[in-house]
Amino acid sequence: MKELLLIGIGAGDPDYITMQALKALRRADVIFLLDKGAAKHKLNALRREICARYLEGHTPRFAEGMQPEREREAADYRASVDELNRDKQAVFEQLIDEQMADGEVAAFMVWGDPSLYDSSIRIIEAIANARSDLSYDVLPGITSLQALTARHRVPLNSIGRAVEITTGRLLAEGWPQGVDSVAVMLDAKDTYRGFVGQDLHIYWGAYVGTADEILIAGPLDDVAERIAVTRLEARERNGWIMDSYLLRKSGTVRN
Ligand SMILES: C[S@@+](CC[C@H](N)C(=O)[O-])C[C@H]1O[C@@H](n2cnc3c(N)ncnc32)[C@H](O)[C@@H]1O
Repeated sequence: MKELLLIGIGAGDPDYITMQALKALRRADVIFLLDKGAAKHKLNALRREICARYLEGHTPRFAEGMQPEREREAADYRASVDELNRDKQAVFEQLIDEQMADGEVAAFMVWGDPSLYDSSIRIIEAIANARSDLSYDVLPGITSLQALTARHRVPLNSIGRAVEITTGRLLAEGWPQGVDSVAVMLDAKDTYRGFVGQDLHIYWGAYVGTADEILIAGPLDDVAERIAVTRLEARERNGWIMDSYLLRKSGTVRN
């Protein structure tokens, strides 16, 4: 049997890694990394840093696969994600077949937590269902939203109320029903700007937990343009950006 561990490593600061995740990494014979090209080398550098800093003499080997690219402007978003996941599955299967021996343990160091806007669990489940020589486990990590709310020192929800976690693409269709707090990820298009004039408060963060971290918070009407300019500059400077934000109806900010 081969054993796969999907390990959440937290979303930025190497110190977000949990004791449980470290114990799991110390069991790994091999760590699988997906190379996402030059712009995202920093994310793999963080993975290697966690291993160098915390594995206490345990030295698993690293095996790299090429991360397939999704077509960003595809008309059919769902179809483009399905296609990406099929390509990723082929890369994962190749790593499992060629880079680990029977009886070995392999780890994927998943950004943040594997359950949040990440397809690794779905992909590994599909692979494991199709063969009898593979078992897998999932270990939780600190999500980018937990990092964001901690750095802004705010609760995710207001008292007794629901919060919706969504994407920029879905928020563009309108404010979700029945919630006063909305946490937004994967927004490449500054969707918050469409909500200026609606008495909202925003807590925005880019590269949260890393040395490049930027935080801006305030009434949306006051800070939306500053966020847009800062975001653009940061993306140009670094070649890529990962940012997320919490929007809250202003009347409930202190609740
Ligand atoms: C594919 S999702 C992965 C989320 C991850 N599994 C998690 O638990 O946070 C990528 C999105 O997460 C958010 N994100 C991840 N890391 C972040 C960070 N350090 N700072 C701000 N947002 C981050 C961004 O919205 C980015 O577009």
